[in-house]
Amino acid sequence: MDLYEYQAKYLFDEHGVPVVPGEVCTSAQLAEEIARKIGTTVVVKAQVKTGGRGKAGGVKLADGPAQAHEHAEAILGMDIKGHTVHKVLVTEAAEIAEEYYVSFLLDRANRAFLAMASVEGGVEIEEVAATNPEALAKIRVDALEGVDRAKADEIVAAARFPQDVADQVAEVLVTLWDVLVKEDATLVEVNPLIKTPDGRIIALDGKVTLDGNADYRHASHIDMVDEQASDPIELRAKELDLNYVKLDGEVGIIGNGAGLVMSTLDVVAYAGERHGDVRPANFLDIGGGASADVMANGLDIVLNDPSVKAVFVNVFGGITACDAVANGIVGALTMLAERGEAVTKPIVCRIDGNNAEEGRRILDEAEHEVIELVGTMDEAADRVAQLAARN
Ligand SMILES: Nc1ncnc2c1ncn2[C@@H]1O[C@H](COP(=O)(O)OP(=O)(O)O)[C@@H](O)[C@H]1O
Ligand SMILES: [Mg+2]
Repeated sequence: MDLYEYQAKYLFDEHGVPVVPGEVCTSAQLAEEIARKIGTTVVVKAQVKTGGRGKAGGVKLADGPAQAHEHAEAILGMDIKGHTVHKVLVTEAAEIAEEYYVSFLLDRANRAFLAMASVEGGVEIEEVAATNPEALAKIRVDALEGVDRAKADEIVAAARFPQDVADQVAEVLVTLWDVLVKEDATLVEVNPLIKTPDGRIIALDGKVTLDGNADYRHASHIDMVDEQASDPIELRAKELDLNYVKLDGEVGIIGNGAGLVMSTLDVVAYAGERHGDVRPANFLDIGGGASADVMANGLDIVLNDPSVKAVFVNVFGGITACDAVANGIVGALTMLAERGEAVTKPIVCRIDGNNAEEGRRILDEAEHEVIELVGTMDEAADRVAQLAARN
């Protein structure tokens, strides 16, 4: 989960990374009050999970409460790279002498972490990497050794930070590493990390990505989930413990096992090219136990998406045999009908594996008008794409 700047800075502050005081709010009136409380020049900053807010006009200096009100009014509701601004951070304006860049990120390919640092911060770091790669130091960080003071000194030296700030930057790096480890983050980035005219080092922007697999260790991370920005169907699926990801096509996909669902997305996308560019509408892995309950929840989630025109249920029976899955599908349709949500969109089923014949017999005998049984995965993909294109 990516955090907003204000959430990232809250974590920074908790762990001792220097930040400027500020508060987040959702209205111009509140922005004005916060500015009054802060009492100095402030900056009003759009809170959206994308970079380049400054360039897009989402970061504005205000000389007092009245101007903070004005800027907040202009920024709230603004669209920045497809993200609508619902919140602004009103924060003390810092005086900037220099802007630097520092980050730690998980480097999966190398089974390590990567520290990056540059004295040319403020601008997008991809730009520095492209136009002036020597200005961006990249240092491997061993996951077990981490970043102690010696490692931090190595990063500071590699990025050629000026002598007068070297100590402070090294200290900030050790603390940021602490944020990454203690919060189970896969990314911690500060751009810009600034030097003030009186020589202090402050994190003026922050980007943190938390590792969702570690959520169980952090009760407080739940509060950082932003329901407003999440897809409502994805939220529901999460409540039901289903692995669901919304995509932008028309064919609903349900399968058991992440690998099977991934390849189903591929064959449907491929078949869809022959039928007016029809594409998968979602990823939904119902996991091992494809019981009627789980299947009903899965179908319910997928059919709730108005862009879904047809559904492809692709199941390979293993520990849960195909007859149980078939009963699950039939039971799910009955269950939904009883709930007053009778299914009318076509459902193409391909079931194979353990006890497949018995499973197919159950589906055949159910003679349900929306179910169509198809023999192979490729044929089923073609059929469901055709049905989705027609509907
Ligand atoms: N509190 C602040 N005080 C003074 N200037 C700021 C402050 N916050 C941001 N800025 C300026 O605005 C620029 C962009 O802000 P930043 O938070 O980095 O947003 P983004 O990276 O999305 O553009 C910074 O590089 C800095 O020059
Ligand atoms: Mg920035």
